[in-house]
Amino acid sequence: MRGRLITLEGVEGVGKSTLLPVIKEFLIEQGAEVVHTREPGGTELGEQLRDVLLNTDQEIVPKAELLLMFAARAQHAEKVIAPALAEGKWVLCDRFTDASFAYQGGGRELGAERIGIIENWVLEGLNADLTLLLDATRETSLERTKKRRELDRIETEGDEFFARVKLAYLDRAATYPDRIKIIDANPDFETVANSVRAQLTTSCGQWLDAAVET
Ligand code: TMP
Repeated sequence: MRGRLITLEGVEGVGKSTLLPVIKEFLIEQGAEVVHTREPGGTELGEQLRDVLLNTDQEIVPKAELLLMFAARAQHAEKVIAPALAEGKWVLCDRFTDASFAYQGGGRELGAERIGIIENWVLEGLNADLTLLLDATRETSLERTKKRRELDRIETEGDEFFARVKLAYLDRAATYPDRIKIIDANPDFETVANSVRAQLTTSCGQWLDAAVET
């Protein structure tokens, strides 16, 4: 039986990295074999492209940024995600295509239409089965990013950029309500973790039961 692709999304500072282990642990407890990966990244080439995308000092024009994200994704999808799903594994991916619609489509104002064309060509129908979108106020996000290491190339963008990113994410969630579930990420860690577990139970319960039975 084919595995499932679960993706986690949200603007920086919403608490993605603290919640990933919660999701992974939940899936493993339910008997799933989990491959935990990330974008941009997840392959040797993808990690090299991530380095270029996030750590370079040079300007990267929006179209180049979009294509580099999809170059990393093409390698990741074909070499890691699709084979794992075919083996019945569950793939937990820290960001996926929705991030391109939010950051490049919204943040960089490239729009959704051309991204959809590239997505269809690169992924050939591969899509997340469930996407958890962590949503917090800008104040909460800023408070959390303040505690971090040095900011990367994208994290140094301003409020207007992140407002557009958030809007594009919410727009995706409104367009795909069956797949994208919004989680209120403003409360404390334990409260958000409980919301995440509750959503996973609702959305994945049947898939997990079927996977364990086979
Ligand atoms: P993160 O995984 O540590 O959150 O960092 C990845 C950064 O890359 C984050 O700022 C979002 C950005 N990004 C895009 O702009 N487009 C994409 O398609 C993906 C996957 C990530």
